[in-house]
Amino acid sequence: MTPTTVKTSPIPGQKPGTSGLRARTRTFMGPRYLENFVQSVFDALGGIEGRTLVLGGDGRYFGREASATILKMAAANGAAKVVVGQGGLLSTPAASAVIRTLKADGGLILSASHNPGGEDGDFGVKYNIAAGGPAPESITNAIHARTESIERYLTLDVPDPDLETVGTLTLGGMTVEVIDPVKIHADLLESLFDFDAIRGMIAQGFTLRFDAMHAATGPYAVEVLENRLGAPTGTVMNATPLPDFGGGHPDPNPAHAHDLWNLMTGPASPDFGAASDGDGDRNMILGRGVYVSPSDSLAVLAANAHLAPGYAGGLKGIARSMPTSRAADRVAAALGIELHETPTGWKFFGTLLDAGRATICGEESFGTGSDHVREKDGLWAVLLWLNILAVRRISVQEILEDHWARFGRDVYTRHDYEAIDTAAAERLMNDLRARLDALPGTKAGALTVEAADDFAYTDPISGDVATKQGIRIVFAEDARLVLRLSGTGTEGATLRVYMERRLADPAEAAHADPQVALSQVIEAAEALAGIRARTGREGPDVAT
Ligand code: G6P
Ligand code: ZN
Repeated sequence: MTPTTVKTSPIPGQKPGTSGLRARTRTFMGPRYLENFVQSVFDALGGIEGRTLVLGGDGRYFGREASATILKMAAANGAAKVVVGQGGLLSTPAASAVIRTLKADGGLILSASHNPGGEDGDFGVKYNIAAGGPAPESITNAIHARTESIERYLTLDVPDPDLETVGTLTLGGMTVEVIDPVKIHADLLESLFDFDAIRGMIAQGFTLRFDAMHAATGPYAVEVLENRLGAPTGTVMNATPLPDFGGGHPDPNPAHAHDLWNLMTGPASPDFGAASDGDGDRNMILGRGVYVSPSDSLAVLAANAHLAPGYAGGLKGIARSMPTSRAADRVAAALGIELHETPTGWKFFGTLLDAGRATICGEESFGTGSDHVREKDGLWAVLLWLNILAVRRISVQEILEDHWARFGRDVYTRHDYEAIDTAAAERLMNDLRARLDALPGTKAGALTVEAADDFAYTDPISGDVATKQGIRIVFAEDARLVLRLSGTGTEGATLRVYMERRLADPAEAAHADPQVALSQVIEAAEALAGIRARTGREGPDVAT
């Protein structure tokens, strides 16, 4: 079948951000928008003739139509095969697992992660490489460059393929294999954890709830938690993926996972609660009346990972994004292993994982994962927590208190100022950046600045350099402040202010309220950056 060549011209702004290209769903549905970007991916890869790709997404609105468009384009571009999750569904960690397990050449993930979905929400496309992880900047830059010179795309004039039935079909000369989206990932998870121990704990009355937020993880969580681990039906809440996530905001944080939050902080709280995001790579962990900060979760998981069979041999290293608290550093030091501090974005962990320099990675943005895939993995984090609880048989609160007694507590909060004026946000950052060299030794409120820099990172494996990755200010009082602009928003700018302070006294650590314990750091941030005046906001939209 002869491919159809469609003339096109560049559409401005097709620059992949922290995690692929994100835009309003209506923008993606507009003429040539998706096609231009997808063809640019194929072209930037040097063509996809004869290659095998994986395709799937988080089930959001426009995903099925986009899958059909991409399959026709892949066939027209000469791909040998595309493996697709049934109904176009694959969570992000599952897509990574499928790419790796089937040794595919790469994959396209259709997701805007935790951004709301629907016709009035967001959509996104991300390219992952053969190792299973997000494309590094060398590739995303090439894709962006191609979007600026594109003149044509290729497609096939055929009906949409049926993605609802598991099996094999052909499209032009290309094979389309529609697979069960869950099995490969669930099997991989089962190989890492002691399912017998977790099953035993649940059988003895341990109670849990998982909020899938009507997003991609529902079918995965039902299969793993209910079918394989024997948790009662209904353990997974909001389990059915919906194109608009039921009108919710599929971001697992205290503000957005309110059903679960209310349950866990109420009188009938189960022992353990967790939630995941739109595409299943994020996680939030809760105990009875307790919120586990993602930075603490990373540190606790790293300190206890050896209790799970997949990590019994110990960890090679830990990696965290720069704004993630320094709690993990203290664990790495105690274990005598490497600690890597990388820019925000899971893509920066890929080379470290490939080279065996890190086993566990985590980010304050509710992401944790390991070298089993090359994406963060929400369900993986839940299972590692459950495995640890099944071995230690103490509560989430007790695990945290024990951890803080041993390492101290890096009490932590992140304040987000969403959809603020882009120019004002950039001015705030630039003005502060210009003053960094003069800050050490000066006072910011009650605190003394010890060091200040604009975070730059040289990848120890690839040598790639990333600059301007966030302003980092360390205070003499064992506290730290980080400011950066989000790379995932689709409206205006989002300023993120990350604050932490170490509490060494276990009694103080056990009961500290972050917003109170961090009041001097919050004041220092205001004194240094003038956030209220510059954003015109009285306070943050979200505090995590
Ligand atoms: C995505 C990426 C993460 C990153 C997060 C925060 O979820 O996969 O690796 O930490 O975005 O990005 P932002 O730029 O919005 O702070
Ligand atoms: Zn996500």
